[in-house]
Amino acid sequence: LSAVNFDTTTFPALKNDLYLRAARGEETERAPVWCMRQAGRYLPEFRAIRVENEFFRVCRAPALATEVTLQPLRRYAGLLDAAIIFSDILVIPQAMGLEVQMVAGKGPHFPDPLRTPDDLQRLVDQSPGFSVDTELDYVYKALTNTRHALDGQVPLLGFVGAPWTLMAYMIEGGGSKTLALAKTWLFAHRAAAHELLGRVAEVAAQFLVGQVRAGAQALQVFESWAGELSPQDFAEFSLPYLALIAERVKAVYPEVPMTVFAKGAHYALELLATETLYDVVSLDWTVDPRIARARVDAAVAAARPGAGPRSVVLQGNLDPTILLGDEETIRERTAEMCRSFGHSGHIANLGHGMMPSHDPERLRVFLETVHSSSAELRCQ
Ligand code: CP3
Repeated sequence: LSAVNFDTTTFPALKNDLYLRAARGEETERAPVWCMRQAGRYLPEFRAIRVENEFFRVCRAPALATEVTLQPLRRYAGLLDAAIIFSDILVIPQAMGLEVQMVAGKGPHFPDPLRTPDDLQRLVDQSPGFSVDTELDYVYKALTNTRHALDGQVPLLGFVGAPWTLMAYMIEGGGSKTLALAKTWLFAHRAAAHELLGRVAEVAAQFLVGQVRAGAQALQVFESWAGELSPQDFAEFSLPYLALIAERVKAVYPEVPMTVFAKGAHYALELLATETLYDVVSLDWTVDPRIARARVDAAVAAARPGAGPRSVVLQGNLDPTILLGDEETIRERTAEMCRSFGHSGHIANLGHGMMPSHDPERLRVFLETVHSSSAELRCQ
């Protein structure tokens, strides 16, 4: 591991700005491509680091976080158009005072989750002297150091978990099939639910602003559990907080592209495209890209008549389990995905993250196919 560099005053010049241009809605020579969870357990080089280092230790040690962030860029040299900082959405609940452990084979575990509205008093975000920037300075250091180490190869993405998804983890204490405990708050402790969502949203917005100050060049907000909400409950408990986060960040950094990934919320595409300031809407694989494109374009045209052709950019959306298939199927389905999104306004990605059982060489097939088929599409 090389020496760390925490200088935020000058960064290396960016050599590949394809992702940033596409995210801003500009025409590009091909669709940029990156993958959610591109740094992770499917990579043997990541598992080697994890043998000696507990998960959150990797997040907290800037040199390790940088190394892991760069692993996929090294392996897939020239094929990835963005790096995403190695961290986790659960650093926000930790900063707010909850303990989170990463249990091998089980995922995240909160030994002492929020149970009743009285437990909100245990959160430290309103305590005197609390500072998001102090609590999460280790993420800022990881971003700054990684931005230097990237040497301008590709832009560096920062991210946060969205309030509803984080609230669900803070109450359930880990993964859950029904989110029955978290949803009890929505329907039995509605005011406390809104208080918690609002407090998490403020922390998340400040954290994103700090991430840009530290070197992040674009941002993504993960609402991984949007699909557990009905359209009505999404409109009440998720959308306003997603919108607030984008407003807060855009007020400080209007030029920094922002993406929202509300997994499972295909019913909310129009709302995400018209009622928020996100530049990019990321899709999971349950929605047909052609239909998504038509729906968001129609909604944007109706909401901003006369504003011209500028619509939101779409990201996604290959079913990650297709990477468990044979190479020919991966090629076919990836090319079909690129065709379905059309010749502009697309950032290629999977519809969710890489899985530990994925073969890294199958991801290479996906990346190569995006390069060839999306460039071909634009020559037509
Ligand atoms: O490469 C990247 O995308 C950057 C790093 C990243 C991680 N987590 C690393 C990680 C990102 C962007 C996340 C986001 C995240 N974390 C989300 C949102 C995206 C999504 O998948 O919906 C969520 C819900 C979490 C919470 C979380 N963290 C879970 C559910 C797990 C367990 C996953 C599992 O499959 O068991 C984690 C742990 C985690 N975060 C790992 C990695 C590489 C694996 C942990 C390990 O090394 O043991």
